[in-house]
Amino acid sequence: MINIKDKKELQIMRDSGKIAAQCLEFLISQVVVGNTPLMLDQWAEQFIAEKGGIPSFKGYMGYPASLCISVNEEVVHGIPTSRPFREGDLVSIDIGVIYQGYHSDMAVTVPVGKISKEKEKLISVTKEALYKGIEQARAGNHVSDISHVIQKYAEKNRFSVVRDLVGHGVGKNLHEEPQVPNHGKPGEGPVLEPGMTIAIEPMVNMGDAKVKVKDDKWTVVTVDMMPSAHFEHTIVITENGAEVLTLP
Ligand code: MF3
Ligand code: CO
Repeated sequence: MINIKDKKELQIMRDSGKIAAQCLEFLISQVVVGNTPLMLDQWAEQFIAEKGGIPSFKGYMGYPASLCISVNEEVVHGIPTSRPFREGDLVSIDIGVIYQGYHSDMAVTVPVGKISKEKEKLISVTKEALYKGIEQARAGNHVSDISHVIQKYAEKNRFSVVRDLVGHGVGKNLHEEPQVPNHGKPGEGPVLEPGMTIAIEPMVNMGDAKVKVKDDKWTVVTVDMMPSAHFEHTIVITENGAEVLTLP
């Protein structure tokens, strides 16, 4: 069953998304040579607590941190480490906030200093793929209309989409129905209706689509060790297109 949120619930989710987005804005400014993922994780935990929220990820299925920070060939679910950022790294930060019982979930990928042209392109294509997906998130469309445009855009740019992980409904739970894949034919899956809240999150690889989970049981990496990027927003389907809930 796909939960439909009412006006009151949506206002809470907007507030939740605002905390996530404001926190992420600060974290992005700290992705510089010498800072570490663990430093960002501690700052995020403080920031979220000051705003009256709780990190969604900490303790979720035993996940040990507030953020996921995935560097270079790491795709998602990287556990923050003490390895300082280096010039040329590609850093994905994924943040989830619970506020008054409702989750918001978002992610960005940012460069450390100067990065290669190909890594720059990977970032811009992944971000654009997310926005192309959001454009398809409107009442009457099927879930896979989102999936299809994401895949088409990534592959047109000679990158690949990760198939083993998907976007998802979000609300009282971090993960709700429906699943929102980043690949597929159009016109499949549930029909989108006003009040549905979903997290759309393309993960795009520079090389092959294949990924595996590292020995730490969490960090997802590309099998070919090529870089990967990840962008995510929580949105609500309205009568009139999608509204992004994770805005500062
Ligand atoms: N944005 C990720 C997701 O939707 C974050 C989950 S990390 C976890 O799956 F640790 F909480 F699992
Ligand atoms: Co998510």
